[in-house]
Amino acid sequence: MVDIAVELFGLRFKNPVVLASGPSGNGKEAIEVFDLAKLGGFTTKTVTWEPRQGNPPPRLVEIYGGILNSIGLENNGIECFIKEELPLLKDVDTVKIVSVGGDTVEEFAQMVERLNDIPYVDVIELNLSCPNVENGGISFGKSPSMVRKVCETCKKMSPKKPLMAKLSSDVTDVVEIASEAIKGGIDGLTLINSVQGMRMNIETGRPYLLRGVGGMSGPCIKPIGIWNVYQVRRAFPDIPIIGTGGVMNGEDVIEYIMAGANVVGIGFGAIVDFDLPYRVIDEVKVFLKEHKYGSIRDLVSKRGDIQ
Ligand SMILES: Cc1cc2nc3c(=O)[nH]c(=O)nc-3n(C[C@H](O)[C@H](O)[C@H](O)COP(=O)(O)O)c2cc1C
Repeated sequence: MVDIAVELFGLRFKNPVVLASGPSGNGKEAIEVFDLAKLGGFTTKTVTWEPRQGNPPPRLVEIYGGILNSIGLENNGIECFIKEELPLLKDVDTVKIVSVGGDTVEEFAQMVERLNDIPYVDVIELNLSCPNVENGGISFGKSPSMVRKVCETCKKMSPKKPLMAKLSSDVTDVVEIASEAIKGGIDGLTLINSVQGMRMNIETGRPYLLRGVGGMSGPCIKPIGIWNVYQVRRAFPDIPIIGTGGVMNGEDVIEYIMAGANVVGIGFGAIVDFDLPYRVIDEVKVFLKEHKYGSIRDLVSKRGDIQ
């Protein structure tokens, strides 16, 4: 018997696989499609203070080894989310991670304050890739001082819940950004969000996506995710990390754990094949067994030094 459970923030993840924020929806869609209780955790699609329609189409285009999207945080807003969508997750036996995104520090803080009082929310994740309207529209996650400020302010609002920050790889120095989040009191980090990119339509001479730039997801970004997780783990040996980006099989999960992740998120992989997350969990078990690791903890204790 191998033990694939992971403990983080005093919470038990039955296995190291969580659904990443976005691709699998906000609860309702995910419950219809996935057996969430088989997963270590589920992250809701990012919810914002006000409802958002998202960006106009076209907002998805295929790329080698993934997709490029500019969905633009389409959602029904925090009120509707708390009243109608979140309660659907209440009795689901998995770790529930709620992702929030704000235009301002105050919006982030108000949402965190609301979620802090809901007993069945296990973890709150700040999506720092959101543009900051008070700072010229530059995303929160690109400014070290804003990362610190938003984490510090939100931490005061979430005394009961672990607070995570989801970072982008589209920065000069991910370790500096992680460091500011940690100084701001963050309890854990999710790395990485989708990676900025563009595709041109050579018939029209315009970008495929109406908005031009989009975020790349899927196996094409896995080495970027691994490198970001590795750098942050090397700098901060103890901070809990959810490694995300391009996971398609059990070996990808093992690779992220060896790079320093505690738990691993799946986005793209879960929407190209709805059975993929369970298969990945089985493959993790097989790997541990074949390599004679008794548990994830055993795997972590025997991995090479991160230096
Ligand atoms: C269609 C789509 C929607 C996404 N929406 C969100 C979102 O709402 N919030 C967020 O933090 N990340 C969002 N992401 C990013 C994923 O959570 C994940 O970080 C990224 O796609 C890399 O992982 P993957 O390669 O497994 O998809 C989205 C990704 C996709 C493909």
